[in-house]
Amino acid sequence: MRRSSVNRLAAGAIEGPIDLPGESHAESSVAEHRPEPVALPTRLRKPTCVSTPALADRFGRIHRSLRLSVTDRCNLRCRYCMPAEGMRWLPGLAIATADEMIRLVAVLARLGVQDIRVTGGEPLVRPDIAVILERLRGVTGIREISMTTNGVLLARHIDALVDAGLDRLNVSIDSLDPVRFAAITRRDDLARALEGLAACERHPTLGPVKVNAVVLRGVGEDDVLPLAGLARARPYVVRFIEAMPLDAGREWNADQVIPGDELRRMISAVWPLRELSRSRPSAPGRRWRFVDGAGEIEFVSSVTEPFCAMCDRLRLTADGRLRSCLFATEETDLLGPLRGGAGDDELIELILANVAAKGPGHGIGTPGWTYEGRPMSMIGG
Ligand code: 5AD
Ligand code: SF4
Repeated sequence: MRRSSVNRLAAGAIEGPIDLPGESHAESSVAEHRPEPVALPTRLRKPTCVSTPALADRFGRIHRSLRLSVTDRCNLRCRYCMPAEGMRWLPGLAIATADEMIRLVAVLARLGVQDIRVTGGEPLVRPDIAVILERLRGVTGIREISMTTNGVLLARHIDALVDAGLDRLNVSIDSLDPVRFAAITRRDDLARALEGLAACERHPTLGPVKVNAVVLRGVGEDDVLPLAGLARARPYVVRFIEAMPLDAGREWNADQVIPGDELRRMISAVWPLRELSRSRPSAPGRRWRFVDGAGEIEFVSSVTEPFCAMCDRLRLTADGRLRSCLFATEETDLLGPLRGGAGDDELIELILANVAAKGPGHGIGTPGWTYEGRPMSMIGG
């Protein structure tokens, strides 16, 4: 996007259609013969978005992906995410209905959002989850719908989710050992999560299902090789995610993080790996294939190798607040205005201003860095 457009967005102004990158900026050769434009009375002006404004921030990043948190509730209590007890939930009425979510997604799709990842909390605890997916499928401009789940309720839901239009799935499983799984999640549910994962194999359209694993130092070292082995034995891509300071209990510290590089060295000492190119420039994971061709793993090294420069993600919380970053200090309430009768143009103005204010990156681990905002389960991972 041209600098002038970015500045207009930064000021929150929406004066008319904004060029998308790749669109020709050249004026038509007949431009000089055109009469001077006449200012029309407001009611005769064309609608705000004759063409789609791009969701660009000050750094030229165009936002096409949305993490849509459909609930803050969860049936597990992973220690890097929630406290054992006493989690403060959103009041039920504060959570967006399916209709409200679809309206907000439709406005974001007009602005260029194409890919939606449905998250929670745990999205499958929401009874109308299949309806939400089906309705997302019907939103003009949405290309791909994916979900991140802990898998515990997946076996009973997977057929309906795929029927409703689910394209891709990530299942979070941090340990294949039932005792350690229970110690990490504070629930004895490994067998159900694995059953959910296995049920996905009935649906080859999901492509490789990805298994998300957060391995904490001093807790999960013995899980690393079995998890890598799962990627060799079954048709899943296993992704090792560094723990981020987004736990509701505020217990994260840098010593808990095992850098992705260290995990990769542990694995490649047993099963040599070679790196593949990223699936998309904005993809958070670095991909590696076992040299013997037996499978693929990824490292999402958010702490030690931040990928903010290429970020194209926005987040909508279950209570309808837009966040341009996991660590954003500002969020924009869209649900309140929607419930108050705001039209699309008003919502678009709020969205553009939020994206324009996105910071360059998170700075985790730099001296003096703190984050006082909402935890991961309320933002949508
Ligand atoms: N750091 C890193 N990943 C986290 N997740 C949840 N909390 C954290 C955290 N503090 C992961 C879950 C899930 C995804 C939604 O985010 O394991 O895979
Ligand atoms: Fe639930 Fe996911 Fe948080 Fe675990 S990480 S408690 S599965 S929301």
